Amino acid sequence: MSEIRDILVTSALPYANGPIHIGHLLEYIQTDIWARFQKMRGHHCWYVCADDAHGTPIMLRARHEGITPEDLIARVAEEHRADFAAFRIDFDNYHSTHSAENRYYANLIYARNRDKGHISKRSITQAYDPVEHMFLPDRFIKGECPKCGAADQYGDNCEVCGASYSPNELKNPRSAVSGAVPEQRESDHYFFRLGDFEALLKDWTRGGGLQPQVANKLDEWFAAGLQEWDISRDAPYFGFEIPDHPGKFFYVWLDAPIGYMASFRNLCDSPRGRAAGLDFDHFWSKDATAELYHFIGKDIIYFHALFWPAMLHGADFRTPSAIFAHGFLTVDGQKMSKSRGTFIKARTYLEHLNPEYLRYYFAAKLGPGVDDVDLSLEDFTARVNSDLVGKVVNIASRSAGFITKRFAGRLAPTLCDTGLFDAFVQAGESIAHAYERRELSRAVREIMALADRANQYIDEQAPWVLAKQAGQEARLHGVCSLGLNLFRILIGYLRPILPGTAADAESFLRIGPLTWAALAEPLLDREIAPFKPLMTRVEPAHIAAMLEASKEDLSAARPASAIEPTNPHLARDPIGAVVDIETFAKLDLRIARIRSAGPVAGADKLLRLELDLGGETRTVFAGIRAAYDPRDLEGRLTVMLANLAPRKMRFGTSEGMVLAAGPGGKDIFILSPDAGAEPGMRVK
Ligand code: 2FM
Ligand code: ZN
Repeated sequence: MSEIRDILVTSALPYANGPIHIGHLLEYIQTDIWARFQKMRGHHCWYVCADDAHGTPIMLRARHEGITPEDLIARVAEEHRADFAAFRIDFDNYHSTHSAENRYYANLIYARNRDKGHISKRSITQAYDPVEHMFLPDRFIKGECPKCGAADQYGDNCEVCGASYSPNELKNPRSAVSGAVPEQRESDHYFFRLGDFEALLKDWTRGGGLQPQVANKLDEWFAAGLQEWDISRDAPYFGFEIPDHPGKFFYVWLDAPIGYMASFRNLCDSPRGRAAGLDFDHFWSKDATAELYHFIGKDIIYFHALFWPAMLHGADFRTPSAIFAHGFLTVDGQKMSKSRGTFIKARTYLEHLNPEYLRYYFAAKLGPGVDDVDLSLEDFTARVNSDLVGKVVNIASRSAGFITKRFAGRLAPTLCDTGLFDAFVQAGESIAHAYERRELSRAVREIMALADRANQYIDEQAPWVLAKQAGQEARLHGVCSLGLNLFRILIGYLRPILPGTAADAESFLRIGPLTWAALAEPLLDREIAPFKPLMTRVEPAHIAAMLEASKEDLSAARPASAIEPTNPHLARDPIGAVVDIETFAKLDLRIARIRSAGPVAGADKLLRLELDLGGETRTVFAGIRAAYDPRDLEGRLTVMLANLAPRKMRFGTSEGMVLAAGPGGKDIFILSPDAGAEPGMRVK
């Protein structure tokens, strides 16, 4: 064994205001596989993460639910932890950015940079909500798109025509929080002088720690010039107040990566960290020799490859050894979509499918680059069934029965073909190399080629024939024992990817947790447990049910309409949640006349309604098809929610929501105002 390395690994910190979904899992699974591999190789590898708990969206989400941000982040942290545990993401520590450790390091990093002159102050003008008394981040300003005129677009880009712009270009801007017309107000902000670090960052970029695509991106940013970075936000803000500037808070992205340090500090100070003799400085001081890697999505490279190393350097800490960026997840070739049911939450997946399947599939598709990864559900089914069930598990099931029945569960005392066994052991170096370089798809390919060889060996030796022949006992014993030894090596190689299956295989073989080094020694002359199937096939019906449930997640929240507000903070409250009178007053309810109603091709629960608001016409897709014949609706008055953000759907954009009540299906009733009501009237 070569020298033992000290390695600290992180995944990006998930925001504490929403559930983990399969897009997130691509990264956590990739990191977890890599960390588990390092541990199996005997290295001292620590994998830490935390919830990213600060910022305006979390503050507003909590307000919207009528709870404190502390209560919100505590609840979400529990949900995140449970989801990660179920997917066997084996963090050595999971912490929060809203923690004492994080406050300490955020203050320290800020103060050291400030004292060296890397922080400057200037006044900037920003949109301000005069009703909520708060400055508005871009995504909380809505208005008409300056390019195509589409209504209700967010402050930075148009969902209808795709244009990007700055919020002050929006026509008729409104605060998405209160609906008020934003004012322009000045306030003092603090900036991190990124340009001071240009030489350091260029050096670091060329240091070999970055993927070529990422290094190219950085070169583009260097060419464009490094801008000062606004690291402060005005109250009200859920975050850390800047110690020497009361009323100003650190921007969430300042303290988010510091959360990596905070989580590690928290681990060092835990009983486990102390028992392991973990030394914070060994991993973070300027001259640290330990390795530090951040796995991230390609959308947050700027923060991790520019701001983060610069902040660290300015505060006399080490810079990361490397950043490992990955691409986005698509499902069946398209962006995950709530209406198609492909926006799959970790929880929904777990209710229908084995997490080991997804871990395997992602590994089979992941390379070291930033290419997007497609989860093709048909391919997912085929690969899991053919590779894992058909090849790997099959080797054990074909050999184990004879060992149990004919040899009292005891393996043969010698290997009957050392050449084959040795070839399997020797293949381990190339597989390990692939893991090390994050070439997970190559590792999987090489392991499956070995599985094919093992199956071919069993086919050739035909133990089921030997079992019927007289005088072939020793050979039968040898062949089946070798089969199980080959299976053990394969499971060892797959262990970082399939920790659950590997644990079951370890108890079947009655062995302790496999290490890479242990695989070279065969398992001989000892008893194993009776074989139980280690994995069942993926059933297409379970996938269909998962997709359906993912669609239901949406309709359950909104029984009368298929509208999903693009801004999650405007999402409908489930019954029972607290809505204060101010929140209720923000709903713009209007009388509307249904001009026309008709079916929607490809959506059998929906009707397309053209609604007259007294001069303005809106298209709304409502989930009321089972309850109404469209002809009965035409000409009727109803009530609509007119200030709901438009939602782009497969068949068009839905521009509001029709109010209806009832348990669903046929029993759903749209509200019907009296005949005297006029389209466009505000409902009070
Ligand atoms: O993009 C995100 O989801 C962020 N919460 C990631 C933060 S990573 C790190 F910097 F903390
Ligand atoms: Zn537009």
